[in-house]
Amino acid sequence: MVAGLIDRGLSKCIDVGLLLVMCGIVGYYGNDEAAEKIYRGLKRLEYRGYDSAGIATAGNPSIKVEKGEGTIDEVSEAEIDGTSGIGHTRWATHGGVNDRNAHPHTDCGEEIAVVHNGIINNYEGLKEKLKNRGHSFSSETDTEVVPHMLEEKMEEGLTLKEALMDVEERLEGSYAIAAVLKTGEMVAVKQDSPLAIGVNGSEKFLASDVTPFLEHTSKAIFLEDGDVVEFNGKLEIYNQREPVEREIQEVDWDAEQASKEGHDHFMQKEIKEQPKTVKKASFQDKSDLEEAVKMLDKADEIYLTGCGTASFAASLGAKYLEEAGYNVRTEQAHELEYSADSISEDDLVIAVSQSGETADLLSLLDKSPAPTLAVVNAVGSTLARQSDHTLYINAGPEIGVASTKAFTSQLGVLKLLQYASEGEIEEGRQKLLETAEAVEKVLENNKDTIEAISDYFTGKEHAYFIGRDKGYEMADEAALKLKELSYIHAEAFPGGEFKHGTLALVEEGTPVVAFLKDNGYDEIVSNAAEARSRGADLIGVGKNEISSFEYFIEIPDKGLEEIVEVAPFQMIAYLTSVELGHNPDKPRNLAKSVTVK
Ligand code: F6R
Repeated sequence: MVAGLIDRGLSKCIDVGLLLVMCGIVGYYGNDEAAEKIYRGLKRLEYRGYDSAGIATAGNPSIKVEKGEGTIDEVSEAEIDGTSGIGHTRWATHGGVNDRNAHPHTDCGEEIAVVHNGIINNYEGLKEKLKNRGHSFSSETDTEVVPHMLEEKMEEGLTLKEALMDVEERLEGSYAIAAVLKTGEMVAVKQDSPLAIGVNGSEKFLASDVTPFLEHTSKAIFLEDGDVVEFNGKLEIYNQREPVEREIQEVDWDAEQASKEGHDHFMQKEIKEQPKTVKKASFQDKSDLEEAVKMLDKADEIYLTGCGTASFAASLGAKYLEEAGYNVRTEQAHELEYSADSISEDDLVIAVSQSGETADLLSLLDKSPAPTLAVVNAVGSTLARQSDHTLYINAGPEIGVASTKAFTSQLGVLKLLQYASEGEIEEGRQKLLETAEAVEKVLENNKDTIEAISDYFTGKEHAYFIGRDKGYEMADEAALKLKELSYIHAEAFPGGEFKHGTLALVEEGTPVVAFLKDNGYDEIVSNAAEARSRGADLIGVGKNEISSFEYFIEIPDKGLEEIVEVAPFQMIAYLTSVELGHNPDKPRNLAKSVTVK
């Protein structure tokens, strides 16, 4: 960890190849101490990465930097003053996690500090030229070329803003970059990475999303690609070097939603919030739903896609829409991209996402000529802005890295879309209201069993989840939650597939979790029995308890089953993780917003 002023002894670096980062950035420009506000903002952005962190403030006569490996709490030791500054929390995908690669990075004279979210593809060539001109580098990052390029431009007599405009023209890749000069001026630029500005009178914030500044203001500007912003007394935005106006939007999320509200972890709070968020998912404008149905009706082919948990929502959504008579193809976005050539402008892509910033999804949409319908949570996200039509799931900020309430709200909105396409919006809303109640009940009624299953899992190394039809996606999601939070190896299979190979892994005491849906009920019970005969411990979830199972979670016979069934498994994954001594809000190696491919 490097606390206090940046360690200049690290100027020699070992190149370990391309260092890709996916991170969160924060900036503050105002009259208060910047470091405190930036620190609080970074805490809110840690879901985007927490390998290393840092803050730089403009402390004339030099920039002050505090940064290093670890979370912002581990790094933030020394007090650095200044009324403007920038901060960064990082998730590395290639290359070392260490002090010198932590942002912010500075120029040779330590007069400019820079933070960056994204990738600068052509950084190697730029770095080579800068080195030949005498610049000294301290890190392996792509980012560090930026402060040195700004330094050169300012030495030519340009202002910081003009320098950034020149530098931007030479960068290739995706980036949200913020730079602060020792005198306090601050600038930022955005290209293919999200960047929002919070406006609170004379106080201005910038951040990768709105959560860092929600406690100060709900007024936000969502920057467009190519926008360069200057914070210099007033706020000026330019695009292609011309001043532009950007709308100030009122964000309907509040700071409370982005805090733990007395819970031990965000994830715990977000699981328990679901009766409320499922209800909110039903608050869709009738006209928005009707517009979405028109898009469905017009499409030759419908593709439903997402990644990770959102891909399971997409896959269930495809089953819902098939029930309404549509032909739907569903695939994870990164795989569907290989068939992008077969998507035509007469088709429709429905993109499901919490963050609206997932690179795999945005990349597919770049290649697809079809109109896009977004089912998304993050207000003002790239997906929301780039789609032809958006249904917001209204779940509020989801901070825990593992998706919980966003998943159930995605399911809720997709189900509502099915109802809307059948001309039954009100019935759909009613179903979601019943679901909200049922979620509350299932968690309450099964509290002891949920705790007992969590205890049981802490002693296991492997677990298998099986389901048929819509039970398969439930198995997928329950297994993903358990493995990503507890690091127990968990795999999901269609019940029918299990005996075609994987059954060989079942031995005395292997946990097998079965989702018992009406469709294929007898068959999935048989699949569970086949595992039991080989020594498996059975855990079941369904409407009617089977007493021979070791554990059974009985769900109420009302509401949208998929939402009701998944909630106990979110809680089991959460409790198992806590019991094993892990941090469920920050599972190892993961970040919430996966903005690299
Ligand atoms: C798992 C999880 C991830 C995300 C995936 C897509 O708990 O959260 O699998 O679902 O990274 O993210 P979004 O929904 O932001 O596109």
